[in-house]
Amino acid sequence: MSINRNISKLGGALRKDKIARELDDEIQTHIDMETDENVEGGMKPDEARQAAHRAFGNVALAQEDSRGAWIYRWANDFAADLKFGVRMLLKNRGFSAVAVISLALGFGLNTTIFTVVNAILLHPLPVRVMHWINAIAIFIMIGSGWKIYNDDVILGWLHFPDGLVIGKWAQYGLQWHFFGMWIFVLNGLAYISYGIATGRFRRKLFPIYPREVLHDLFAALRGHFSHDDISMYNAVQKLLYLGILVTGVVIVLSGLSIWKPVQFHLLTSFFGGYNTARYVHFAAMTAIVAFLVVHVLLAVLVPKTLRAMILGR
Ligand code: HEM
Repeated sequence: MSINRNISKLGGALRKDKIARELDDEIQTHIDMETDENVEGGMKPDEARQAAHRAFGNVALAQEDSRGAWIYRWANDFAADLKFGVRMLLKNRGFSAVAVISLALGFGLNTTIFTVVNAILLHPLPVRVMHWINAIAIFIMIGSGWKIYNDDVILGWLHFPDGLVIGKWAQYGLQWHFFGMWIFVLNGLAYISYGIATGRFRRKLFPIYPREVLHDLFAALRGHFSHDDISMYNAVQKLLYLGILVTGVVIVLSGLSIWKPVQFHLLTSFFGGYNTARYVHFAAMTAIVAFLVVHVLLAVLVPKTLRAMILGR
């Protein structure tokens, strides 16, 4: 790629930053002016600012729409770079052949060593990395979700305390929520693909027999965890992990339905409309929080499982 092109790309990135700042300033000025008007109209400053935010609507969505245009440009640049790369490879066939063969040998060798080491470990590295990324993403999603919820509650008596939420304003909560959403979805897709492709789900989560679930559940309630061999999950764990995977899918689909009810109108009507999708989303969040309480408690009660999820054995 020529120096000129690199400079122009850098310029583009800096311009994008400037435009983003200008957009933020414009929105902020708009809200400030509305706040001043509300104060002049007799509202208290806090109340006036909240009313101004409400009147403006969803700041994060407005910013998102503007960014949509930038992403389109970025995709175009990426396609042009890709085309250029392929043309150069076709032009220097000898060099390309050596590069492809070296890469193939490198990947092959690496994968073989990795597979052997992985087989010895209880939780292979990808599972551990994805598990902890997921834990961080869930933390962001729940904290920011509670902030958004507080702005328009479903259950009149339930407001989440300020100390437990993420985001100073509901709009910031929304931005955190979208940020966490990408991590959660991409990481979740990678985890599910890995679990299916390597046969891990089949080996670790199946079969589940109701009789064993009841047996292990009563044993756990009496304080006996059938978890002497930590290379295998007990029946209750299998059911819980499978349940949380399904809940993860439901929370993403219901989230999409309330985020873009027009674009995903089929999905939204599958959930019975916007309002029902909101209830489903909330119920799925509650299930995840309940799972987490039990899950973290068990990890603390049987620390060798925690060690294995960190170190692999
Ligand atoms: C601080 C939070 C967390 C801690 C301390 C923790 C701890 C652990 C531990 C110790 C294991 C291994 C259990 C065993 O070997 O018996 C595990 C597995 C698992 N955890 Fe977590 N976890 C946390 C957060 C989460 C979250 C947020 C989710 C999903 C919502 C989750 C889902 C799972 C799943 C599906 C497995 C099974 C993984 C597999 O074998 O493929 N965990 N966790």
